[in-house]
Amino acid sequence: MPHSPSFNLSRILQETSVRHIEYHESLGSTSGLAVELLQDLLPMAPALVLTSQQTAGKGRGNHRWWSTTGALTCSLVLESASLHLPPDRLPLVSLATGAAVRTVLQSVAPGQLFQIKWPNDVMAHGIKISGILTEQHTTSGQSALIIGIGINVNNSLSGAPDDIRTTATSLFDLTGQTFDLTELLVLLLNEVESGLRQAAECEQALLSDITRNSLLTGMNVCIQSGEQQLQGYCSGIDVDGALLV
Ligand code: BTN
Repeated sequence: MPHSPSFNLSRILQETSVRHIEYHESLGSTSGLAVELLQDLLPMAPALVLTSQQTAGKGRGNHRWWSTTGALTCSLVLESASLHLPPDRLPLVSLATGAAVRTVLQSVAPGQLFQIKWPNDVMAHGIKISGILTEQHTTSGQSALIIGIGINVNNSLSGAPDDIRTTATSLFDLTGQTFDLTELLVLLLNEVESGLRQAAECEQALLSDITRNSLLTGMNVCIQSGEQQLQGYCSGIDVDGALLV
């Protein structure tokens, strides 16, 4: 196993259901590498691609994900069939992951307010602290999910480009404290696992957790869908992961 200065890889393997860790000290994108290595990683799923420094992170759409050392950036590779979710429920994967990130952040920094912003972000006092990028790929006839998770933890946004500095924050910027990345990752992987199980077995419990902790619940929202603009009151999340407006 490669040595990691920031993560205790043996502990992650011992205390979570992850069976293989592909660790690199520095990497362009954990999700990019997960796609490249998918054929090898999938038989070892749940597999984790992890780095201490991601240099070319992918965001949703054409966005990039900016981060420096101290951020938590990883991609979890899962066999889609292992989730026991019908295809129309797959949007719940990102939501369950966001809910897991929120729960863990709230537990390590209880004095702060963390909320889920549908569909894929976690916010701290309304400012983005984490982003999730879920991709579905097929290799050798098998479907895989790659859940990319970025959380600003011990990195400060003070050195970030202007557009990001004004719209994002980190645990360090919020609290002035640093956090054990291994501890956080172990908590997160276990929480993601139980959230995904809940999505398949007890979706109402998951949906009420998300609705209760969603930034948009109870707000008037304006949604752009292609050419169309929809305005209305957000009352929560539907069983298929759609926003109820
Ligand atoms: C977004 O907010 O647009 C999603 C950001 C997702 C970032 C994570 S960081 C780990 C993983 N690897 C990537 O290249 N992207 C995701």
